[in-house]
Amino acid sequence: MKSLIVANWKMNPKTYKEAKKLFDETKRLTGLLKGVSVVVCPPAVFLRSLAIGQRAGRISFGAQNVHFEAQGSYTGEISVAQVKDAKAAYAIIGHAERRAMGETNYDVRKKVDAALVGGLTPIMCIGEKERGHGAEHFELAREQLRVGLSEDAGKRLSKIIIAYEPVWAIGATKAMEPRQMHEMAIFIRKTLVERFGEAGHSIKILYGGSVDGKNAGDMLRNGDVTGLLVGRVSVDSQAFSELLRACAEA
Ligand code: 13P
Repeated sequence: MKSLIVANWKMNPKTYKEAKKLFDETKRLTGLLKGVSVVVCPPAVFLRSLAIGQRAGRISFGAQNVHFEAQGSYTGEISVAQVKDAKAAYAIIGHAERRAMGETNYDVRKKVDAALVGGLTPIMCIGEKERGHGAEHFELAREQLRVGLSEDAGKRLSKIIIAYEPVWAIGATKAMEPRQMHEMAIFIRKTLVERFGEAGHSIKILYGGSVDGKNAGDMLRNGDVTGLLVGRVSVDSQAFSELLRACAEA
């Protein structure tokens, strides 16, 4: 099965020239490898210029955030309609780095709903800050799913992607073990099936947190995930090329 690789460039690179170079290289690699689809999520100011003229194919675009209101006096924010107009099809919502700046589960819920209504595929991020020995991380994931997904969203699960990104594994030196991801994937599905019925079984789940060319294949084979959400490695063409190759072989 084809893996979905989401490249979250975060606040990188510095210039459009660099962004274009990185994108061209990402596109070239994606074209060479059959088993992967890539969603590039650049800073919003680069989105339209990168996306314009691209034919629909195995590379598509996403925003790193959207606002839940359709328009109005929200200085610094970007609407779903604007993101769509800039040719993106996805939006990362509730990333840990935005939650750390104050975004709540209730904001996430409104954003997921707005994305669905506006025709974007939400990539809803969940994950605990720390991992203890108990089952707190499951409880936290359940709560993030409970509040983050409305009843309306529950009717459209096939249009939603859940990205499990434990905060302790983001920007770290080591990714989570595939076995732990597998457990969490089962938990996410079970939680959604209990609340929304059978559609929960087929929810798409990504893993994110220190993914690279060395651990990506194992995670795709054994982590029970549809794909990966990649930070640092996605803005380094050489490292991203190794990662994409590993994913294509997995
Ligand atoms: P890193 O891949 O740099 O750990 O970042 C993960 C992430 O936050 C992707 O959204």
